[in-house]
Amino acid sequence: MLFPLVFSCSKESKEDLIDILVNENPTDQPEEEPEPEVPLIESSPLPDNPQRSGDASAGYEYLISGNYMSSGVPYDAFLLGTSVNPDNRLNRTGDNANLSYDYTTITASNGARVVAPNCMACHASTINNEFIIGLGSHDADFTVNRASNIALLNSGIRALYGGEDSAEWQAYDQFRKSIVAIGPRTMTETRGSNPADKITQVLIAHRDKSTLVWQDTPLVDIPEEVFPSDVPAWWLLKKKNAMFYHAIGRLDFCKSFIGSSLLTLGDATKAAEIDSKMVDVLAYIQSLEAPEYPFTVDSDLVQQGQQLFENKCATCHGTYGDNPTYPNLLVTLKSVGTDPELSDHYTKSSAMNDYFMEWFNSGWFGTYGNNLQIKAEGGYIAPPLDGIWATAPYFHNGSVPTLEDVLNSKNRPTRWSRSFDNTDYDQSKVGWIYSIEQTKVDKNTYDTTLKGYGNSGHTFGDQLTNSERIALIEYLKTL
Ligand code: HEC
Ligand code: HEC
Repeated sequence: MLFPLVFSCSKESKEDLIDILVNENPTDQPEEEPEPEVPLIESSPLPDNPQRSGDASAGYEYLISGNYMSSGVPYDAFLLGTSVNPDNRLNRTGDNANLSYDYTTITASNGARVVAPNCMACHASTINNEFIIGLGSHDADFTVNRASNIALLNSGIRALYGGEDSAEWQAYDQFRKSIVAIGPRTMTETRGSNPADKITQVLIAHRDKSTLVWQDTPLVDIPEEVFPSDVPAWWLLKKKNAMFYHAIGRLDFCKSFIGSSLLTLGDATKAAEIDSKMVDVLAYIQSLEAPEYPFTVDSDLVQQGQQLFENKCATCHGTYGDNPTYPNLLVTLKSVGTDPELSDHYTKSSAMNDYFMEWFNSGWFGTYGNNLQIKAEGGYIAPPLDGIWATAPYFHNGSVPTLEDVLNSKNRPTRWSRSFDNTDYDQSKVGWIYSIEQTKVDKNTYDTTLKGYGNSGHTFGDQLTNSERIALIEYLKTL
């Protein structure tokens, strides 16, 4: 149920609230003007949601080397097609030492060794030359059809291992089918934008909700549209009572991690095996802390900024420091005003959405063991802001390149591009250095006029003076 944070209150307390939330000083209003409409901030606290506990170090090992994937490109074929990664930055051993951090070798059920992408393909990234597990990938390129080279790969694998009867082909087959299904349907308009929501939709359209077995013909019509997400930082999860920007992931978080395994899974038996390990992965994710801002900050400004933050932002984003608080608020679309498409997709009835709800809530995910529940109430969660300096671009769709632009909605660029060099970091605006573009030049241009890519709303910083904004940004660097 949604109930407004402020639904009815006396004139005085309304004015206090405007003061707090939008920094409008009512006494500045000329007397003859009608009183402005009070913007009601509607939000609902997400209920407390205890999770299963596990072992964080076992979780880390499983994350970087575990076999939560079941099918992939045969190992030797994979090495032939890629250059051997020299840095082995995860210090992995054996076959994994030859792979980049975002791939893992696994032994398929028939014994063949295959290589598949792992969680770090989207959940690890480099900023200012520091590699950070849990920092969402801000530069992965999903504008390309990942199935475009599949015919070449197929003939290579047939030639190398002796046709489709070989163990290697068999162990590759599910990966191939999944890539063919998702490749053309999950392309984003901009590099750095992530289509994970859409990948999930395509994969579940091809699987029975109870046995999880692959179906060649999709069980529901899959819509064309692909809404972009900016991958959230993992270190925030320990504070949250629901997963995902739209807070649709309720009850058991570990179950949702198996969503990624749907790319290569055989059936529900394997899903149950993965489930027993994901408790450790959750423990690892919950052990992560936000990285510290690597440059110097001005402590006087930080103090001023903290005051402003506590007056204008803490109601939704919580407080930081020694005794942090976090209210876990789901804020309605009307109140936050950011791009509605991602949220609307899950609240409006459509063949895909009805199928999605039914698939998760009454299938294996919603009924086996500890249940995942999908519940869409609309709106976006006001996220914790720990490590916010590192997670540009901002908002659920990554439409805003810097914190300064988050806090000044009129200055936000309509079309902007960045170099994707992870050291092109703007220490004063806090976020990525960007250029304003008049048109969408190429995949590096983020075009906020596209459906789902909008940069409207969240006007809570608009009334700040320039010097207040500078102080607030200085404080945000320290979270
Ligand atoms: C293809 C990219 C991709 C892969 C691979 C991927 N994720 Fe994600 N993940 C995302 C995106 C994008 C979101 C945000 C989706 C949203 O909120 O709409 C997300 C959300 C999450 C969240 C929720 C965070 C929050 O604060 O709500 C967790 C936890 C998570 N993923 C864990 C995992 C794990 C564990 C794996 C591997 C088993 C994995 N992910 C694989 C892209 C990916
Ligand atoms: C009414 C509640 C509310 C208030 C007040 C509020 N915010 Fe937010 N904020 C949100 C919500 C909801 C989002 C998520 C919007 C989205 O992703 O579409 C958000 C997103 C953000 C983000 C982007 C987070 C990310 O990871 O991309 C930043 C930064 C932020 N807020 C800072 C602030 C600051 C600073 C203030 C005070 C000036 C403030 N907010 C006031 C609700 C609020």
